[in-house]
This record gives sequence, structure tokens and C-alpha cells, in this order.
Amino acid sequence: MTQSLTIARPDDWHLHLRDGAMLVAVLPETARHFARAIIMPNLVPPVVTGAQAAAYRDRILAALPADMSFTPLMTLYLTEDTDPDDVAAAHASGLIKAVKLYPAGATTNSASGVANFENVRATLDRMAEIGLPLCVHGEVTDADIDIFDREAVFIDRVLDPIRKATPGLRVIMEHITTSNGVDYVKSNATDLGATITTHHLIINRNHLLVGGIKPHYYCLPVAKREEHRLALRAAATSGDARFFLGTDSAPHMDALKEHACGCAGCFTATNTMALLAHVFEEDGALDQLEAFASQNGPAFYGLPTNSDTITLTKSEAPTIFPSKIDAGDDTVTVFDPGFPVHWDVT
Ligand code: NCD
Ligand code: ZN
Repeated sequence: MTQSLTIARPDDWHLHLRDGAMLVAVLPETARHFARAIIMPNLVPPVVTGAQAAAYRDRILAALPADMSFTPLMTLYLTEDTDPDDVAAAHASGLIKAVKLYPAGATTNSASGVANFENVRATLDRMAEIGLPLCVHGEVTDADIDIFDREAVFIDRVLDPIRKATPGLRVIMEHITTSNGVDYVKSNATDLGATITTHHLIINRNHLLVGGIKPHYYCLPVAKREEHRLALRAAATSGDARFFLGTDSAPHMDALKEHACGCAGCFTATNTMALLAHVFEEDGALDQLEAFASQNGPAFYGLPTNSDTITLTKSEAPTIFPSKIDAGDDTVTVFDPGFPVHWDVT
């Protein structure tokens, strides 16, 4: 029995490509299936200015194998020193599609993030004026807030006040992990969207912690309780145009994941589309996969849906994905869902 599904070519609305040897290793994994991706700017040092984003885009395009096509959609990393004129110029030239807000210290390479939101007010106002969206890493970093509560607290303490103070600002809550995130998006009008990762549709915090700690399931925001995973599944498979795919595929060298102080990030670029087909089929929602992976994202960003397609095929035998890919002197582990998957992009 073979089943197949053809959908418009998907895009990834939240992706880490890194730089150097890692970029060369991981870029084909995304470009094989995806036409475009919003490229996260959390390099070391971060991509802060338009000039840095242009140089990074050129390095990405130089790393792309000659037989592949892929369009990186660049972003700027918002800092308290960001110049609103530089942001506006990078947007006007078509170089950038969003600005990324990391609360200082929230995640990998976020030391330059924002601590005092008053200092980014002028940039946010300008973005609202020119229609440039803000991508938000929605976690507070206060030491007294439990890591599993950081997204919910961020919505009340930071996100809602920012949105009220900046009417018209289009916001994408990145990689939501809680029912609080889902509910907040649903309670608001069309200027708010959210990305959902593949791995947060599959794992909860038990997968990370029960039976031994699984470093390759550790990412930020950290996976939450099962009830939250189910809320994400319901949102992703609902067809609601405010929810779309952002894999947050975040490669780290295995030596740094399998470590006493392991890095946060799941690498899902290789098998994301097959895993999503499995998830959507399990929820009786294969007919909504195209909306989630290929239509809702471009609509939110005001871009056309891709005109070419990919075909997913389900086979009798489980699909064999590589467990690791080579990257420079080390390897990167591909996300293992922990169950057999019969879908593949063919
Ligand atoms: C990301 C990374 O490694 O850059 N890690 C992660 O766990 N998602 C940073 C981020 O998006 O938070
Ligand atoms: Zn990310």
C-alpha cells in the first residue's frame, strides 16, 4: 500500500544555519525540501546591521550546492543599540524580512539581546510604521521564574505590554511550546502569528528526562507537559492561518550536545517533512499539512506561496533517515522521533 500527498513546496519560518563548516553541512538538508527560510541572526557575533545581514546572505548563497535553489530570508538581531534607520533601509532594499528579539540571556548566543525594552522603543515604532514583523523568542530570563513557566510569564510581563505600546506591530511568537501561547495567539487579531516546531509536536518533557537525560531532546524553549504538546498539535493541525511551521532546526556539534553543560537545540532539517506527515496523518489532518507548512507562513509575511511542489510518499517499510550528518570535524545528530516513520519526501 502506497499513499502519496503532493503539496506546494514548504518554507521554514525559523531556521539556524550557523556559519563556516556547519553552514556548509546543514544548508543542503534544508534546501533539499524547503524553498525559503527565515534565517536566525544569532551568530557569534550576532547579525545586527544591514551590512552584516548582506554579508551573511552572501555566505549562505556561496555555500549552496550548485544544483540546489534556496532563498534565505534574512533577519536582524535586535539590540539596545540598533539604529532604526539601518533597519528601515535593510527592509526597504528587500534584504530583511523580520527583526528578531531575544531577551538578554534567554538562549544560545543571546548575550546581546534586549534587557531594557525602553531602549528599543524607537525601532519597534519604526517597524510598525513600515510593516516589518518582529520575531520574538518568548521567554523571560528572570532567575526566580521556573524554566517551565518562562513562556507563560513572558506573554503577560513582556509581550502583551510591547504589543499594547506599539499598535500595528506585526509579531510572530517563535516556537511556542504551551497552551498559553496558543491561547494568546487565538485571542488576538491578525497582527499576531506563531511558529511551531516539528519536535514540539512530538516530544514532551518526559521524553527529555525519563529513563535518563536525552541531550538531543534538549532545546529552548524546553519541551513542556503533555497537555501543552497536545495544544500545539491541535493548533498546528487546525488549519488556523495564524500557526505555521518554523522548525527551529538548531545544529550543534555532538561533542557540545553530549556534554556536562549541553547546548540547547534539536536538529530536524533532515526529516522534518516526513515527521510532519506522520503527525498530521496520526491526527487525521493530512489535508491541513499544506496550510501549516506551505501556505500560512508566506501569507503572514505577505509573500506568495511557492509555485512548485513536493511529494510525500508513505511506504510499507519504515524510512531510514541518517542518524547523524558530518559537519567539519564532528557530527550533528538528526532528531530521532522515537517511533518508526513511513513517510518520506520522494
Ligand atoms: C537555538 C540555537 O541553538 O541557536 N537553540 C534552541 O534550543 N532552539 C536558539 C533558539 O532559537 O532559542
Ligand atoms: Zn531558534
